[in-house]
Amino acid sequence: MKADQDLRSKRREFLAAGATLPLALATGTLTVGILAQRTSLAATPDCGDGPTPRQTAGPFFKPESPLRTSLVEAGASRDAMMLSGRVLSTSCKPVTGALIDFWHCDAQGNYDNRGYRFRGYQFADDDGRFSLQTAVPGLYPGRTRHFHVIVQAPNRRPLTTQLYFPGERLNERDFLFSPALVMNVSGDSAPMRAQFDFVLNLS
Ligand SMILES: [Fe+2]
Repeated sequence: MKADQDLRSKRREFLAAGATLPLALATGTLTVGILAQRTSLAATPDCGDGPTPRQTAGPFFKPESPLRTSLVEAGASRDAMMLSGRVLSTSCKPVTGALIDFWHCDAQGNYDNRGYRFRGYQFADDDGRFSLQTAVPGLYPGRTRHFHVIVQAPNRRPLTTQLYFPGERLNERDFLFSPALVMNVSGDSAPMRAQFDFVLNLS
């Protein structure tokens, strides 16, 4: 798969450069997002429930996105949200140094296919944790609200999948939607806080 090959290449280049893990996440005074009224659903699957399901990357993946934990641009604090979680193995061990590459559309449902707006990758820390600051994605025809993500343990096959928001009217009408990929979203925090743990089959 082209996306998989590109991601492996990206990781090799990064490690060759001797960079360190970048997980300092900026904090800010972000306003309440349009989805901040969510109520939490049942907990997302944990590592004991098996690996995170794979889903298509879709047509909008771009290699060589920037290394960063915040996709929020200056002056664009509206509808901000935080997504955090861990990358774990099916035996519930943290996957240190896992590469996590996010991309999603803007509030109008458009992907940036010329630049890297709302695209970025990061590495899980020693405890497998990651944290992303970004904006709530919009909608585009045929799909419910979602993130795209590729997660790759060092020297392993990447997991390509998507994450979904609870309580979305269009979830049940989206042919790709999976309840196993719904994030936990806290009901009334600002900015909205979502949580999801990725589980990789490393056996
Ligand atoms: Fe998409």
